[in-house]
Amino acid sequence: MSKFYPLSVAKVKHETRDAIAVTFDVPPALKDTFQYRQGQHLTLRAVIGGEDVRRSYSICAAVQDEQLRVAIKRVPGGTFSTWANEHLQPGVTLDVMPPEGRFNLPLDPASRRHYLAFAAGSGITPILSIVKTTLLAEPHSRFTILYGNRASSSVIFRDELAELKDIYMERLNLVYVMSREQQDIELFNGRITQDKCRKLFQHWLRVEDVDYAFICGPEDMMHGVSSALQEAGMPKERIRIELFAANAALQVREPRSVYAVESRHQTEVTVIMDGNHASFTMDKDKESLLDAGLRAGIDMRYSCKGGVCSTCRCKVLEGTVDMDVNYALEDYEVARGFVLSCQSFPVTDKLVVDFDVAE
Ligand SMILES: Cc1cc2nc3c(=O)[nH]c(=O)nc-3n(C[C@H](O)[C@H](O)[C@H](O)COP(=O)(O)OP(=O)(O)OC[C@H]3O[C@@H](n4cnc5c(N)ncnc54)[C@H](O)[C@@H]3O)c2cc1C
Ligand code: FES
Repeated sequence: MSKFYPLSVAKVKHETRDAIAVTFDVPPALKDTFQYRQGQHLTLRAVIGGEDVRRSYSICAAVQDEQLRVAIKRVPGGTFSTWANEHLQPGVTLDVMPPEGRFNLPLDPASRRHYLAFAAGSGITPILSIVKTTLLAEPHSRFTILYGNRASSSVIFRDELAELKDIYMERLNLVYVMSREQQDIELFNGRITQDKCRKLFQHWLRVEDVDYAFICGPEDMMHGVSSALQEAGMPKERIRIELFAANAALQVREPRSVYAVESRHQTEVTVIMDGNHASFTMDKDKESLLDAGLRAGIDMRYSCKGGVCSTCRCKVLEGTVDMDVNYALEDYEVARGFVLSCQSFPVTDKLVVDFDVAE
């Protein structure tokens, strides 16, 4: 079920002109429900202009902090981010879904790893959580962060990162890459592109010395960095990616490859959720599994409806679906039968999907 809990805002801090950090009060009874792993995100819901608007925001605190905090950067013309930046203040109550997401790695105090993180703009939020948590939990591991911004004034968590750098002088290397502010080292000027990464890997950082990389930022940066890392020899499985928004152009439906293999136009769908079974019939190519389920009155979980956040993830137990876009699931999850219901269209006459399976 898309279970939301009303949480009261405890604190709002203006990090930059257009970004706020929002800390929620978690009552003791909900402490376990809102227990999070580093790099996870929350779905927030508000009624804006009479509409139910849901968006995902990454938790930007260490697991050890036990502090439910997100940062919301205002996107020009953005419905939720503009509303949040203008209206959120201590005492306001928001509907919040428990933490979700797999943008992290299991930690081991005995590990001696070198992690690399690339963040751009608000992409620093899950990275901050991952870095803080990891440096605390793995005393022999180190992190290198490349953080892209236009200029110092737009850097979210500048003070917090500086503090972290002071605490972990030996184990944290933090580099700002600025596109509209000249820095002394030319290599750190400009945007984080594939070409920039190639140069960084040639002159400044040996990819062979890195165990895992995390990337969070716009889609073009993510592709550029990931390609450069792979060119430099890093296997794809060691690159973890979190995308906040897909390029609108890519959200156009791709032609169906496996669509309409079977004869009938309708599919009998069974949804397993919270241990309960619900069934409905839907047309094969008219609407997504998520939309059909919602129309049938099932309280399906979702946030972005764009194949990015993975809130609507489920496992196909019987039948086949055709997925339009997938920016959220790893290859191994797809291989195990996981799909994004907001992007899935039934192919077979019968379909059974399970929302309760985690792995
Ligand atoms: C897993 C996940 C974690 C996220 N974590 C964070 C976070 O920690 N902090 C944060 O600020 N945002 C985060 N986002 C993005 C957030 O969910 C919203 O997409 C964003 O705030 C814009 O929502 P909106 O309603 O203001 O804009 P909308 O009204 O949905 O969109 C308005 C316009 O902005 C474009 N757009 C949407 N998102 C972005 C974006 N991120 N950058 C540039 N253009 C965009 C859209 O294509 C559209 O043209 C996350 C997204 C996901 C999927
Ligand atoms: S609702 Fe975000 S991926 Fe489906």
